[in-house]
Amino acid sequence: MKTRITIVCENTASIQGGLGEHGFSAYLETERGKFLFDTGRGISLIPNLLTFGKDPLAIQKIILSHGHHDHTGGLPAILELLTGVEVWGHPDIFSLRYKITRKGNKEFNRFVGMKFHRAYLESLGARFLLEKGFRTITQDMYLTGEIPRLTSFEKGDPGLFAESEGRLIPDPIADDNSMVIDSPKGLVLLLGCAHAGLINILEYVLKQTRRDEVYAVIGGTHLDFSSLPQLDETIAALKKFNVKRIGVSHCTGLKPAGRLQAAFGEDFFYCNVGHVLEF
Ligand SMILES: [Fe+2]
Ligand SMILES: [Fe+2]
Repeated sequence: MKTRITIVCENTASIQGGLGEHGFSAYLETERGKFLFDTGRGISLIPNLLTFGKDPLAIQKIILSHGHHDHTGGLPAILELLTGVEVWGHPDIFSLRYKITRKGNKEFNRFVGMKFHRAYLESLGARFLLEKGFRTITQDMYLTGEIPRLTSFEKGDPGLFAESEGRLIPDPIADDNSMVIDSPKGLVLLLGCAHAGLINILEYVLKQTRRDEVYAVIGGTHLDFSSLPQLDETIAALKKFNVKRIGVSHCTGLKPAGRLQAAFGEDFFYCNVGHVLEF
């Protein structure tokens, strides 16, 4: 059986009947079972699963890329359908986090963390498996855990903050995890927002898997919130991984996506609601 990844939450929808919302989620069908990576913002997950004929009741594990609201907002809806399920992620997914924006001399502070208390989610059947390190989810599927931030040009999003000891600090988003599938075609990297930096993530995945190429990269890259020099350096660095399929989503933004399309030509695709990747 081929592994199939269907995008079930994303900012835009390319398939009739699909709902778009700012967020990300992917449904994975594999020989080892069915898995949900992220849950979107909360509105589109269940309708899109049903529209695309994906059985929510078949989900065996939920994997969270990080604790932002647009990746965890659908948790209650899916938990209410299941009778208990493992939820994999990093211990920091419950951090209190904010996005600060300025308009003129006014500052706006918006909560962007997990909107649900851990006890509430556990009462709906979530069994949290929260760890910081690289680990095996099931055979040929891995979760990166914390990513070392090594590149000089991947600076993170300057608008994101977290509460620490009663004050706001730049959010390290240490919980940023990505999934890796070791397929017959090569490694497939599934990103939530890539807050740790796309190149940092790729370098770490190659190190952990002792490989030197990645077949496909799909998901959010957060390049929409990065500087132009970072985008240029990311595109230049990406070339060396010999990626055959690059399908960006969500926080990539349309302008950076256009630059990636120009750089990668036919290998590029926009990975929005309804898109299917088989390998
Ligand atoms: Fe996001
Ligand atoms: Fe995020």
